[in-house]
Amino acid sequence: MVIVCSLLATVTACSGLEGDPQKGERWYNMHNCDGCHGPSGNDGGSPSIKGLTMSDAAFLRRLRKTDSITMPEFPASKISKQDAADLLAYIKTL
Ligand code: HEC
Repeated sequence: MVIVCSLLATVTACSGLEGDPQKGERWYNMHNCDGCHGPSGNDGGSPSIKGLTMSDAAFLRRLRKTDSITMPEFPASKISKQDAADLLAYIKTL
């Protein structure tokens, strides 16, 4: 499993949910992530998320509860677990 997970770097294989980067790109624009983090992840006013190496669990926690006054929270009603997996898969291609 460790080998599989490291081979599938852009896929959230370890959680059992596979992210689709193409859908992730759609969510990235739809939820205005690009408005703050920039279309390339490092060209917005907010900290860079380009080449993010977060686990999917950590990423999901970040979306659900940000400790930030700037970044909005994204509850499950806005971004499902699957959408989050798609998003992360997309962000890893940035
Ligand atoms: C209104 C601006 C804004 C929007 C919209 C926004 N973010 Fe953020 N984001 C921030 C700011 C500011 C930070 C840094 C402060 C913090 O860590 O909470 C951040 C932090 C993050 C982090 C943590 C980075 C790290 O290295 O710890 C991730 C991951 C992230 N954002 C992803 C996203 C995703 C995915 C979306 C869209 C669903 C999004 N953000 C939408 C402003 C925004």
